[in-house]
Amino acid sequence: MGNCLDSSAKVDTAQSSFGTLGSGVSKISSKTSPSSAPSRLTIPSSSERSNGSSLPTPRTEGEILSSPNLKAFSFNELKNATRNFRPDSLLGEGGFGYVFKGWINEHTLTAAKPGSGMVVAVKKLKPEGFQGHKEWLTEVNYLGQLYHPNLVKLIGYCLEGENRLLVYEFMPKGSLENHLFRRGPQPLSWATRMKVAIGAARGLSFLHEAESQVIYRDFKASNILLDSEFNAKLSDFGLAKAGPTGDRTHVSTQVMGTQGYAAPEYVATGRLTAKSDVYSFGVVLLELLSGRRAVDKTKVGLEQNLVDWTKPYLGDRRKLFRIMDTKLEGQYPQKAAFTAATLASQCLCAESKLRPTMSVVLATLEQLEAPKTAARNSQSEQQTLSVPHRRSPMRQHHSPLNITPSASPLLSHRQSPRVR
Ligand SMILES: Nc1ncnc2c1ncn2[C@@H]1O[C@H](COP(=O)(O)OP(=O)(O)O)[C@@H](O)[C@H]1O
Ligand SMILES: [Mg+2]
Repeated sequence: MGNCLDSSAKVDTAQSSFGTLGSGVSKISSKTSPSSAPSRLTIPSSSERSNGSSLPTPRTEGEILSSPNLKAFSFNELKNATRNFRPDSLLGEGGFGYVFKGWINEHTLTAAKPGSGMVVAVKKLKPEGFQGHKEWLTEVNYLGQLYHPNLVKLIGYCLEGENRLLVYEFMPKGSLENHLFRRGPQPLSWATRMKVAIGAARGLSFLHEAESQVIYRDFKASNILLDSEFNAKLSDFGLAKAGPTGDRTHVSTQVMGTQGYAAPEYVATGRLTAKSDVYSFGVVLLELLSGRRAVDKTKVGLEQNLVDWTKPYLGDRRKLFRIMDTKLEGQYPQKAAFTAATLASQCLCAESKLRPTMSVVLATLEQLEAPKTAARNSQSEQQTLSVPHRRSPMRQHHSPLNITPSASPLLSHRQSPRVR
């Protein structure tokens, strides 16, 4: 790990600031995404080396769209479900589309009166030409086949003329980005931050461990959605890509992703591996710890780039507090915060091979949660006098320090992944 920190320090100086990529980088979402949000980026197709054969099970558009798990909606149905895409039901805006709240009948899946039936989120792609259609189809392809509690559920789609829409389960708490960086909502407690990190790690780990590996390629706070209990689900599969197969170590492809989150070696070479997602996970973990954006143009110099700014503090137990989110008001267990910071710096290792896999990341985060479960168990043991004294299997862990009293209990909701 020491090596990792040393080498990442060298490479990050040269590569982690995307501004240094110069004119080769174009911000394809700059015309559509909110100005405060990080820009998606792409390197023009001169670097495109994909032969298109990387998908283990290439499917035709017809096959993708005839998925039995998905409903094909008419444009009119979705117009009615969203009250004609009323601006006041806008849930969010990403690089490729506007997302509206809508209502459908949960049995027939036809448009329902606002306030009745099932709430859905309807993403309407801005007409962007071929790239927009390609990403839309990629999302239908993956989310139509993959099912996991930490991936957002796709209910259906609409393809009619120029219109491209997607219908998802509604995620009441919106995106992680809204909670971490926007003024207004109650700041997230330490326990909730860890719960979100664990949920997102489960989602990524499921994709990486799947029989046909999937690389997510756009892991960032705005693509992590939250249900009413802050369970995290990955959304926005427009850039997902099949992982390398056979003896191949990587997939060579056009560089796509988001400034500040994409792994430096991927940006430099176009070589994509699951470890590129691990790097992005490290960036989001830093955002959870610090409450700061991956790239923040309102800051000066080094502080604009979260990875560069936090690096000197991550490995120093006594200095770590300097980068911790002040909105936590010191209410976090110091030991767990240090472990999470160490994990983040491992994920950000310049040498991609030295980064941990997502299953190791997940196991490490689950360990951080374990002492809390132990503390809860021992508390309920004390309250239940009639129960004979039992040793909790978690007893060997120390209780966390400074846990916020208002922190919600963390439920373990691990479920075995399945492909539908
Ligand atoms: N299912 C959903 N429930 C609630 N809000 C959503 C949902 N899907 C997306 N959003 C909101 O819309 C934003 C953009 O969605 P996203 O799928 O990332 O679009 P894009 O592909 O344009 O980036 C998200 O950051 C989130 O705030
Ligand atoms: Mg998005």
